[in-house]
Amino acid sequence: MGFKAVIFDLDGVITDTAHYHYLAWKRLADAIGMPFDLAFNERLKGIDRMGSLELILGAAAATTTPERKLALADSKNTYYRQLIADMSAADLLPGAVAALEAVRGAGLGIGLASVSKNAVEVLARLGIAERFDVVVDAARIARGKPDPEIFLTAAHSLGVAPADCLGVEDAVAGVSAIKRAGMVALGVGLPEVLTEADLVISGLDRFDLASLQALSPQAAI
Ligand code: BG6
Ligand code: MG
Repeated sequence: MGFKAVIFDLDGVITDTAHYHYLAWKRLADAIGMPFDLAFNERLKGIDRMGSLELILGAAAATTTPERKLALADSKNTYYRQLIADMSAADLLPGAVAALEAVRGAGLGIGLASVSKNAVEVLARLGIAERFDVVVDAARIARGKPDPEIFLTAAHSLGVAPADCLGVEDAVAGVSAIKRAGMVALGVGLPEVLTEADLVISGLDRFDLASLQALSPQAAI
């Protein structure tokens, strides 16, 4: 007995679009004279577009009109879409396809949980859309990470109890969402950043399904 499904985040786990999000926000922040660096960007990972803009604006958010916020968010998305325009399977991170094949080969369900409105397009550009049994993106949820809704929706669509799911995330907010969903969290990144994760690996090239199965609550029974 072990996990029955694995639910992957997209940006920063399967492909390095987390860096493209950073570059696009940096370009916007520079244009409007707001401070922005890699350390601040860590707080934006996994946070939806408007939520990220609010964090960048900080105190200025209260005096910025909704119309202006929409225009700023659109600008960032235009920059971001320029960066993803030439993406292909070559942009899959090391170990991503092998991890998906290992999960499939073991007969487990495969879900994607991304709050990005560009997730479907990025999946298509990477050529991996058909590898997922279930894709939950911004269009299917009301609340972004760290709310557990996106992971719970993915588990429900897969027909698997949350406790039987392994969630895989590079974002602090994403790991928090997985834990709030009652799942085991595999962090991708640095242990000192992803402190809430049950285990942290540096990348999917370190994804070893056989040893990860030991993290399943079922494995202890
Ligand atoms: C998440 C990223 O996957 O998607 C965030 O980690 C991003 O950085 C969010 O803000 C929303 O993406 P988009 O493409 O809808 O602006
Ligand atoms: Mg991510």
